[in-house]
Amino acid sequence: MEILIRPTTAQVATLAADILSEYVKRGATLGLATGSSPVETYKELIRRHREEGLSFAQCRAFLLDEYVDLPREHPQSYYSFIRNEFTSHVDIPDNLVCSPDGTSHKPWEAAEAYERSIVEAGGVDVQILGVGTNGHIGFNEPSSSLSSVTRIKTLHPQTVKDNARFFDSAEEVPQHVLTQGLGTIARAGHLLLLATGEGKANAVKALVEGPVSASCPGSILQWHRHATVIVDEPAASKLENKVYYRYTDEHKPEWQLH
Ligand code: GLP
Repeated sequence: MEILIRPTTAQVATLAADILSEYVKRGATLGLATGSSPVETYKELIRRHREEGLSFAQCRAFLLDEYVDLPREHPQSYYSFIRNEFTSHVDIPDNLVCSPDGTSHKPWEAAEAYERSIVEAGGVDVQILGVGTNGHIGFNEPSSSLSSVTRIKTLHPQTVKDNARFFDSAEEVPQHVLTQGLGTIARAGHLLLLATGEGKANAVKALVEGPVSASCPGSILQWHRHATVIVDEPAASKLENKVYYRYTDEHKPEWQLH
């Protein structure tokens, strides 16, 4: 894995945007994450679109996950979140910004259909990831099968607590979600995980230096052929091998499009 440590969240976003821009220029299929971690990166990509002509017109996108039984129009549905925070501000065709249908009365069928749509599109080239404080990626909670596919999941109480900040109360946070599985995520060509802040230090240490385990779903990055982890100093603060990672970073590791 490439572990890239940057002093500030702005520098994390700039480096992530540098990597993503190379894929966008090639009309890649982008895997998009929600939550707060990728927002600064999305803002920087929007700036490059507006000021530097970075075009997304040849791209398409798949979201990682979606709440079940939350209307698409709800501001906290991931369908709305990604448009408000990113895709409505660039020239990616809106009909090619795909997400699981959390409004379906048969969510298990919606999950299977979504998994098929990713395969039929030829897969995701680069998947942006955040990580939950409990080590989840997407909505794959601890104990998720490492080879799981898109399916319905029940949220861990810690995730409900963490995500309650986006709702009026914890009671409003949906309990069920549709999420790409860890096996689905692992099929992407390049995994790009972003984590900032002290609150993610334990999850970053577990996923980077801990065992590959269903107890820390983010640890699947250790198996991936091209995984990049970009963190700020607080999120990197519990990594034992910080000095080594910084050394490789100073030598500007050559990352290649997968
Ligand atoms: C939610 C999302 C994840 C995201 C996580 C962390 O659970 N489903 O995709 O990585 O929150 O969010 P944040 O980046 O706001 O800490």
